[in-house]
Amino acid sequence: MNAPVSSSAVPEVPVKRHDVATVLEQLRRVVGDDFAWSGGDTKAEPYLRDWHGDHVAAALAVVMPATTAQVQAVVRYCAAQGVAVVPQGGNTGLVLGALPLDTGDRVIVLGLGRMNAIRHIDQGNYSMTVESGCILQTVQEAAATAGFLFPVSLGAEGSCQIGGNISTNAGGVNVLRYGMMREQILGLEVVLPDGSVMHNLKGLRKDNRGVDVNQLFIGAEGVLGIVTAASLRLSPLPQNVVTALLALNSVDDAVQLYLQARKRCGDLMTAFELMPQNVLTLAQEALPDTVAPMSLEHSTYVLVEFSGAELVDVAGILERFLEHVMEDGILQDAVIAHSHAQAATLWRYREAVNEAQALRGLHLRSDVSVSISRMAEFIEQVEHRLQEAFPNSLVVGYGHIGDGNVHVNVLPPADFSTAQRLALIDAGSSLITECVMAFDGSFSAEHGVGRLKKSTFNHYADAAQRDVLHKLKLCVDPKNIMNPGCLLS
Ligand code: FAD
Ligand code: LAC
Ligand code: ZN
Repeated sequence: MNAPVSSSAVPEVPVKRHDVATVLEQLRRVVGDDFAWSGGDTKAEPYLRDWHGDHVAAALAVVMPATTAQVQAVVRYCAAQGVAVVPQGGNTGLVLGALPLDTGDRVIVLGLGRMNAIRHIDQGNYSMTVESGCILQTVQEAAATAGFLFPVSLGAEGSCQIGGNISTNAGGVNVLRYGMMREQILGLEVVLPDGSVMHNLKGLRKDNRGVDVNQLFIGAEGVLGIVTAASLRLSPLPQNVVTALLALNSVDDAVQLYLQARKRCGDLMTAFELMPQNVLTLAQEALPDTVAPMSLEHSTYVLVEFSGAELVDVAGILERFLEHVMEDGILQDAVIAHSHAQAATLWRYREAVNEAQALRGLHLRSDVSVSISRMAEFIEQVEHRLQEAFPNSLVVGYGHIGDGNVHVNVLPPADFSTAQRLALIDAGSSLITECVMAFDGSFSAEHGVGRLKKSTFNHYADAAQRDVLHKLKLCVDPKNIMNPGCLLS
């Protein structure tokens, strides 16, 4: 049942007709003529549709500031005019948080892509300071060049930005060992809804001067302010990295293998990704020229990565561990990559899963978590129910099961119309949410709430927790100009 609407619900942005030409002229005064376009301009088009191409949004304008001062000036102008601002990073988010789908005549998209400087790497402090528009992969590469690891890694890393990763508290494939984006943040610089700036880029490891305000902006999906820069924690760059694809007979065996690996190999395991047979076969649709790394005769596969410092014999430890689990009867077969190229091919399979699904057209995606101990039971139950409900569709479940996080998706048959697909998405999403709530889990493990899951969030969130969020929003953004329609109602 829906909890009662909070008495402190955020106000509507005052609806007033905005003259596009005037807004554009003012924005161009701040950022220059080449970096602000009306929503109808073809240059604005990539900023107004989602990664899968399922949704198209409308906005008064798209603006690309290059400095924190320009972000401030744009926000001040918008606050004064009652124009709302949707911050956007790489626009790879999967819950429509960066797309104004509901506020066309009173909103601009503020893209951070020009704020892409790596300001500083402090080698002695294991930290780096970057602007929020830096592409994640650029940050990883800059860290590696300096001899460090920036561990957040995900399929969209070639396009998503650090500011988007912070604002969604991104997860990805290395959470097991390094934690989510939140764990990598030492400090933030944020432009607040009134145009003032919170400066906190000191990069301190310990700083208990009261409440850590940085935390409010991590996972906030742009509703409290615009992250313009971040001080990031770096880790030692592992010298020894070994990747393997393991064949098993069930998801339950995969979880048993994971638990054994944690017990016997400790923190050496950095990734543990479930890819059942049907998921690997699906991935091949996006990899027509790649030969499968092993025969796909088993029901369940996991992609594992172990890594350690120079003096740690990672390959030897992994091989001994695999011998143990083979003797135990859990492991059926294994391919260990013996070169960077072989490891890259194994990872390419993991990345291709999302690409292959996108090629299949409009489909149901989810991002759920349950406790690791109930993962196998959950997957079996939810997949069974989905397959029963949609007998002609392909039901897949893959992902970060070492974190208790799985993406259970449904791909309708090719001849399904858009209306049939939308109906399937609607009914299937409710079914998955129902199952996940029965397992005391979360309907958003790593992607956020955005606009896509807002009604589910409103339905299930604890009333007191929601009230705190609404009060916080009212305090920080009393005019509700920051990303209205996202996360909060
Ligand atoms: P956007 O999509 O641009 O924005 C996301 C949200 O953050 C929006 O609400 C936006 O308003 C806000 N925002 C963006 N920048 C700022 C800023 N500077 N200040 C304030 N608010 C801001 N996610 C995972 O967690 N794990 C995965 O494994 C994973 N794999 C993916 C694979 C693929 C192929 C794709 C397409 C997506 C994947 N994602 C994954 C989802 C997505 O990549 C992440 O959510 C990512 O962190 C979004 O970053 P972005 O820069 O694209 O943000
Ligand atoms: C992944 C995205 C969907 O794990 O989160 O591939
Ligand atoms: Zn994921």
